[in-house]
Amino acid sequence: MVEKLRFGIIGCGVIGPFHAQAITSLPDAELVAVADNEPDKAQKLAEKYHAKPYLDFQEMFASEQLDVINICTPSGMHGEHACAAMRAGYHTIVEKPMEITRQRLDEMLRVQQETGRKLAVISQHRFDEGAMKVHGLLQEGAFGRLVLGNAAIPWWRAQKYYDSGAWRGTWELDGGGVLMNQSIHSIDLLQWLMGPVKSIYAYTDTLVHRMETEDVAAAVLRFTNGAIGTISATTGAYPGAVTRIEIFGDKGSAIIENDRLGYLHLARDDAEEVGAYGGGSAAKKGSAESVAAGAADPTTALGYTHALQIADMIRAIKEDGTPLLDGQAARHPVEIILGIYESARTHKEVILS
Ligand SMILES: NC(=O)c1ccc[n+]([C@@H]2O[C@H](COP(=O)([O-])OP(=O)(O)OC[C@H]3O[C@@H](n4cnc5c(N)ncnc54)[C@H](O)[C@@H]3O)[C@@H](O)[C@H]2O)c1
Repeated sequence: MVEKLRFGIIGCGVIGPFHAQAITSLPDAELVAVADNEPDKAQKLAEKYHAKPYLDFQEMFASEQLDVINICTPSGMHGEHACAAMRAGYHTIVEKPMEITRQRLDEMLRVQQETGRKLAVISQHRFDEGAMKVHGLLQEGAFGRLVLGNAAIPWWRAQKYYDSGAWRGTWELDGGGVLMNQSIHSIDLLQWLMGPVKSIYAYTDTLVHRMETEDVAAAVLRFTNGAIGTISATTGAYPGAVTRIEIFGDKGSAIIENDRLGYLHLARDDAEEVGAYGGGSAAKKGSAESVAAGAADPTTALGYTHALQIADMIRAIKEDGTPLLDGQAARHPVEIILGIYESARTHKEVILS
């Protein structure tokens, strides 16, 4: 019989139920308990999956035998809740962003080291087929010298989305706006594919919504490998358009559109060299959907890749290995976003150490 790891969830709002669905879809995982300080939410989720509901996660820790805790609370609570779970002896999966300040990122890494528990941070799009394929090709050096890497996230969120929770769009608990909440997925992929970012110039603003944090941002990046890049992001682009990640090198180009590989052309696959003016429309092109799954509705694209990432954590626990996205891997995308905020605030180039 397969040994099942026993899971508990803290936070049963929008994303908590997707974790429950993902956990219960895996043969070697079992959802045992859920906690939310709003009793109706905990009760509803517990009933659906025959788990035990708790109002207080500390009571859940004291009463249940658990192996893994999934943290699905507002972003500015991730550090506190993840550290509490690791200190209580549990392996921990935290929703993105890992945390929203450098100090709390450091504290999480310190507690992870101290307790020896596994820490994974959700960035489910790293498990998308297209992203994995491009990453594998980059590892082989198939794109040659990387020159340009762009992420464009022209999304739409109505005002009622920001009004749906007091924490949304606040510095204290969301840690930012379109960058820290929505775009972190694409920013994580961009830096995973292109490599770490060395320096940043940026503008941010709040042009459409009533909220504290930014709903539009544009940044120019220099990667440590010398390539240049851009991030452009908004939640004010009605009704939400195509999310694009573009990777360009002198031996190949790839464009991921709406989480799928929409374009890939590598010099090594060419029967003959492209002309002095490039391949143009003769370049190979795959299909791309016209509307981004997550661009207009945050919940449509979720589920399957969360299960892949939770399965990766189970593998890491069973083999005593490292999850693909551990705390170290999840730190840099947050640092990039904090760097963008600093540059927009100071009107200066920010160098990431
Ligand atoms: N990976 C993704 O694609 C994705 C999608 C949506 C949200 N998220 C992330 O998930 C996190 C939660 O977002 P959401 O949209 O589900 O928010 P939400 O407000 O819908 O849910 C958060 C829940 O946490 C509960 N909570 C708050 N403090 C608590 C505490 N001390 N103990 C127990 N429960 C507590 C709240 O009552 C609420 O039900 C955020 O960090 C967000 O960035 C990730």
